[in-house]
Amino acid sequence: MKISVIGIGNVGSTISFVLAQDGLATELILYNRTRDIARAEATDIQQALALTSYRLIVRDGELEDTAESGIIIIVASAPMPKQMQNRSELLSHNSQIMRTLIPPLASYSPNAIFINVSNPVDALTYEILQIARQHTDQIDWQQVIGTGTLIDSARFRDLLSTQLGIHPLDINAYILGEHGDSQFAALSSATIGGEPINADPLRQQMVEDAKHSAWKIFQAKGYTNYTVSLAVKLIVRSIVEDLRYTLPVSVLMEGYCDVFNCCLSVPCAVGRSGVHRRIETRLNEKEVLAFQNCARTVQQQIQQC
Ligand code: LAC
Repeated sequence: MKISVIGIGNVGSTISFVLAQDGLATELILYNRTRDIARAEATDIQQALALTSYRLIVRDGELEDTAESGIIIIVASAPMPKQMQNRSELLSHNSQIMRTLIPPLASYSPNAIFINVSNPVDALTYEILQIARQHTDQIDWQQVIGTGTLIDSARFRDLLSTQLGIHPLDINAYILGEHGDSQFAALSSATIGGEPINADPLRQQMVEDAKHSAWKIFQAKGYTNYTVSLAVKLIVRSIVEDLRYTLPVSVLMEGYCDVFNCCLSVPCAVGRSGVHRRIETRLNEKEVLAFQNCARTVQQQIQQC
């Protein structure tokens, strides 16, 4: 499958590197506003592959070189100011970037699955879907996916794993809603091997710790790249191999907990045509209110796009 990565900074280059190593793409196109950067990263990755058994073409290109991609990964973003406190600070600049990039990308690859990484991820995923639909009527909501709270859920499961002494992959616990401050843990349905994970104060503290851990990384090194890159790789694998992994990713809401007109993360079965199904997680009353609060937050951002 041809995969294109749009925006080759610290995050886009790491995503490209991990994708090159998993044998899922036959061709990887790296697009960056400054083409020299994309060319340097593509060459570096291509040369690294000489030390592996993977054979694929990794090259830089213009937007037209992304034509007929199976997957397009959107990472383009304004630089993140070091004192950034909230992902929504990137909104006005990044929504402008989407208005420039999405029309040609959607026209060149109307059948692609779009994976959005750029922040604020939920509002921008919604914008990408709207812009793409204005330029080609072939784009379906299922084709536009934001990495959403897959990243936060990994951070939370990592903390839970240490506390519970259980492998993170065996912990069924999701952070849902906004990939931002209003996110919440769906603890009422969280289990390990069928055993409920109770929402005691220690667990609630872990939800907060998981939420803030990204900022600690961000303040020290200026960006986060590893968790998000493996989140993208998991989504890509689920699409390319039609695995239907259940992943909490950001998609269009059409009535989930009575929420419409925004993108939020809910567990979704992801496969060859994108989101095959949104899973109706059983949420308690408090969690439904938290989900609706996430919707209000993201809808306010969408209005400012
Ligand atoms: C993070 C960025 C991707 O949470 O928002 O790592």
